[in-house]
Amino acid sequence: MRKIAALSFKGGVGKTCLACNLAYGLSKRLSKGKRLLAVDIDPQANLSLTLLDGKEPRVTLADVLLDGVDVSEAVYPSRIEGVDVLPADYRLADFATVMARATGRERRLGLALAPLEKTHEIAVLDSPPQLSILTINIAETSNEIIIPVDCGAYSALSVAKLEETIREVQKYLGNETLRIIGILPCKMTRERTTLEILKRLRETYGEMVLKVSIPYSAAVGTAVADNKTVLEWDPRGPAGIAFTKLVAEIANGHAKNVSNGHPAKDRPKRAKRRAG
Ligand SMILES: Nc1ncnc2c1ncn2[C@@H]1O[C@H](COP(=O)(O)OP(=O)(O)OP(=O)(O)O)[C@@H](O)[C@H]1O
Ligand SMILES: [Mg+2]
Repeated sequence: MRKIAALSFKGGVGKTCLACNLAYGLSKRLSKGKRLLAVDIDPQANLSLTLLDGKEPRVTLADVLLDGVDVSEAVYPSRIEGVDVLPADYRLADFATVMARATGRERRLGLALAPLEKTHEIAVLDSPPQLSILTINIAETSNEIIIPVDCGAYSALSVAKLEETIREVQKYLGNETLRIIGILPCKMTRERTTLEILKRLRETYGEMVLKVSIPYSAAVGTAVADNKTVLEWDPRGPAGIAFTKLVAEIANGHAKNVSNGHPAKDRPKRAKRRAG
């Protein structure tokens, strides 16, 4: 199972929007008989809400991770063909406290997903907006990470911290398959500050910043309000077109690319505080 996570320690940058649209887009490219698993690892449960059309599931990932419930009991067919959901609920916020002294607490998510490896070709993982034991679990089990950024204040700082965390997970938890697909500019406008921050991100992170970016589009908000992905709601609008491009690149494995974080020699400049 190819596990792709939308990961950022920053809130509101577009992680869930990315995860929903990736799940929808990649589900159209599955091998025959295979399914896609959308895994919601955020106590806010926004991904679950969108993919289950507002229905509240009885058993969730919280039951699996906190009470040892069999994962098969927490997998639900979504309203999108070929897509199953492993939903979240607010009790996931207790994970850090409950696991404070638990053995192997960084690997609990990976272990929980293991029985689904054969049935699901791809898993798309949505993350909570902070560095926590949940996000470490996500990095520990993922193969690929996309980092959405909103090109607002502190974007580069949050990318730097995430990159450092990913290197630590590679080194100390031995996830050698983990690579950063790229940094995805989201909610992009033509405002001067946004463009300036994007320029600095490109100076700092070079090709790690994906060529495709997701424009700010009112259609995204409208789609979310109706529990839809923008690929369903407005596929020919600017955000829909951008997500279609992104899905094609990821499906074909062409999206740039950085294995093992990225070596310092490939990096044009260190992230600086002023990069915002
Ligand atoms: N391209 C876009 N254009 C316009 N609005 C967007 C776009 N992407 C996301 N949004 C809106 O921004 C808000 C945050 O998006 P989203 O929930 O995807 O971010 P997030 O990173 O998952 O947030 P959180 O950290 O709270 O989980 C939502 O209201 C969403 O509708
Ligand atoms: Mg979210």
